[in-house]
Formats: sequence, C-alpha cells, structure tokens
Amino acid sequence: MSPYQWILALHVIATIAWMAGLFYLPRLFVYHAMSAPGSEQSETFKLMERRLLRVIMDPAMIASWLFGLWLLALNPALREQGYLQAKTALVVLMTVYHFYLARAVRLFAAGKNTRSHVYWRVMNEVPTLLMIAIIILVIVKPF
Ligand code: HEM
Repeated sequence: MSPYQWILALHVIATIAWMAGLFYLPRLFVYHAMSAPGSEQSETFKLMERRLLRVIMDPAMIASWLFGLWLLALNPALREQGYLQAKTALVVLMTVYHFYLARAVRLFAAGKNTRSHVYWRVMNEVPTLLMIAIIILVIVKPF
C-alpha cells in the first residue's frame, strides 16, 4: 500500500465527483431554460446550481488537480509519456468547460441566460466525450 496507490485512489475518487457535477449541472440548465423567469421553480434551480458548483464541483476539481499533480511529482518520468500529455490537454479543456458552466450559473442567477434548452442539451455532451477520451488515454495508454 504505497502512498502512490493511496493518492491515485483519492485522485480517481475526486475525478468521479467532478464528472458527476459536470454531467448534472448542464442538465439543470436544460430545465432551468424551460422554466418561467422569476418563478418558484427558477429560484429553486438557482439554489441547486449554486450549491452543486460551490459544494461539489469546485472542491472536486481542485482535488483532482492536486492529487493528479502530486502523482506527477512522485513519478516525474510520466511527463514524457505521450498519453499523459494528451490527457492533460483534454483535462485543461475540461477545466475551461467547468469555468464556462460557472459563468452560466452566474448568468442564470441574474436572469440573464439567453441560451435555449436545446443549446444546453448539446453542451451536456461535451464532458461525456472528454471523459471517454481521457479514460481511454489513461487506461489503454495508446501512445
Ligand atoms: C485534473 C487534472 C488531472 C491530472 C493532473 C491528472 C494526472 C494523473 C496522473 C499523473 C496519473 C497517473 C498516471 C499513471 O499512473 O499512468 C493519473 C491517473 C488517472 N487519472 Fe488523472 N489527472 C487529471 C484529471 C483526470 C480526470 C478528469 C480523469 C477522469 C475523467 C482522470 C482519470 C484518471 C484515472 C482513471 C487514472 C488511473 C489510471 C491507472 O491507474 O491506470 N484524471 N492522473
């Protein structure tokens, strides 16, 4: 039970929590975009979105990065690995997507969202595609 194994386990736990939020938040936006502005339903969505982001997604993203970089520090040779370089590029895209959703939480809270429920249904697929590519890279290590 090397420390590396414990940190790897904590890394995977954190990424699962982060992914859960990245899948769920755009789904809330789909229904929020269909609800009447100022309605009780819309106010409930605002609360759910803010809590999901602040209580789950932000800490899980930070923990994913912290434990991931810790693994790299413990095993610097990994930096040369093509699969991990490609994975890191996709994870940076995932992080940009996270901040895009955080901006959307603020826009919905201010009643300024202009995007339709169809737009958020399409955007909901982005983290799925990124996650599939990331898992294939880090498990199969194709290059
Ligand atoms: C947030 C920044 C991230 C960094 C810096 C990072 C870094 C790392 C590193 C250095 C390893 C060890 C690689 C190895 O032992 O081959 C690793 C393993 C892993 N990472 Fe990440 N990662 C990040 C995000 C993610 C994300 C978003 C996911 C999933 C969607 C993910 C899933 C995994 C999995 C499943 C493993 C275990 C692979 C294995 O043991 O075979 N990581 N990560």
